[in-house]
Amino acid sequence: MKPISTTIALAGILVLAGVRVSRGSQAAAPAASPAGVTRAAFGKLADGTAVESFTLRNAHGIEVRAITYGAIIVSLRVPDRAGKFGDIVLGNDDLAGYVDKPAYFGAVVGRYGNRIAKGRFTLDGKTYTLATNNGPNHLHGGVRGFDKVVWKADPPAAGATSVTFRYTSADGEEGYPGKLSARVTYTLTDKNELTFEYSATTDKATPINLTQHSYFNLGTPGSDILGHELTLEADRYTPVDATLIPTGQLAPVSGTPFDFRKPTAIGARIAQDDEQLKRGGGYDHNFVLTAAGDGLRRAGRLADPGTGRTMEILTTEPGIQFYSGNFLDGTIKGKGGVVYKYRSGLCLETQHFPDSPNQPSFPSTILRPGKEYHSKTTLVFGVSR
Ligand code: GLA
Repeated sequence: MKPISTTIALAGILVLAGVRVSRGSQAAAPAASPAGVTRAAFGKLADGTAVESFTLRNAHGIEVRAITYGAIIVSLRVPDRAGKFGDIVLGNDDLAGYVDKPAYFGAVVGRYGNRIAKGRFTLDGKTYTLATNNGPNHLHGGVRGFDKVVWKADPPAAGATSVTFRYTSADGEEGYPGKLSARVTYTLTDKNELTFEYSATTDKATPINLTQHSYFNLGTPGSDILGHELTLEADRYTPVDATLIPTGQLAPVSGTPFDFRKPTAIGARIAQDDEQLKRGGGYDHNFVLTAAGDGLRRAGRLADPGTGRTMEILTTEPGIQFYSGNFLDGTIKGKGGVVYKYRSGLCLETQHFPDSPNQPSFPSTILRPGKEYHSKTTLVFGVSR
């Protein structure tokens, strides 16, 4: 038997090297990487702040790795129909990549995901000014949004394949009112579900719209996503003006290239002569989810006929932004040196509608003191034969 002091020293080394909290059901999984959570260092920012990673692994070998910088999901490994695992999200090999080439890869965007017209809104009679970091508009929380800050991680809880990140945004940060305490929990289950659960409280009324900005490619990294088949449970969408701000209309998708109610290849209509597609440079629009009511509702499904990989999306949110990677232009060299060319990834951002703080007819995004913000989205991974 080892003396107690040696045991403590060894435990200390293990803590430094990375803590693994494994679950009871690990017996069937390979010994080298059982189901559970692995914590490790991911690098340091220029100011010396340490960034950590948390790898969640389920009993079937699906693995998601997230870091404290931006609460970014840096990899998500799922099998194809032959059982071969591959990484289905775009990103960088190291922290410097995420800092130097910001494209919102895998991040939680906030305080307000998506656009606010002219970086201005009026709340309870007071007008607030935000950064205009996207042409004339405010995008994804501003110059230093939630995707560019270091979140605090809760210690991994025994028995749960999950990680919780917290971030407190100061009153006035990026121009937003109120000290906002935000939290996101990523949970991976043995049913091959990955859930994003957000909550927040504030001490002054503020807009909030948190979402996950992963870029997916269920096929070969670097190839385009035009052959992916998309289904969106949306009868309507929010058409945009030339600067991608919703006009306020909820337009029917019927008879337009925005009708994804039946599985349709993304590339099938993307080049059509359509004013909305031209404004978005492809798809970059919010879809109004049809199913009403509380709780998780089916939002859509993405499938790659090549690999057989499928991904169902369920959410409590009223909308989903489908962005077809139109700004990817081959200038970013990502993971493993793969060049992210035009439309080699797509985002499906569950959310409230863009510019809601200026659009009284849209569902409200205002969080008030004493209330709690809640939002939940689940991705379910599978394969088609
Ligand atoms: C969102 C926006 C797009 C683009 C990407 C990030 O999806 O709607 O226009 O800004 O983020 O590049």
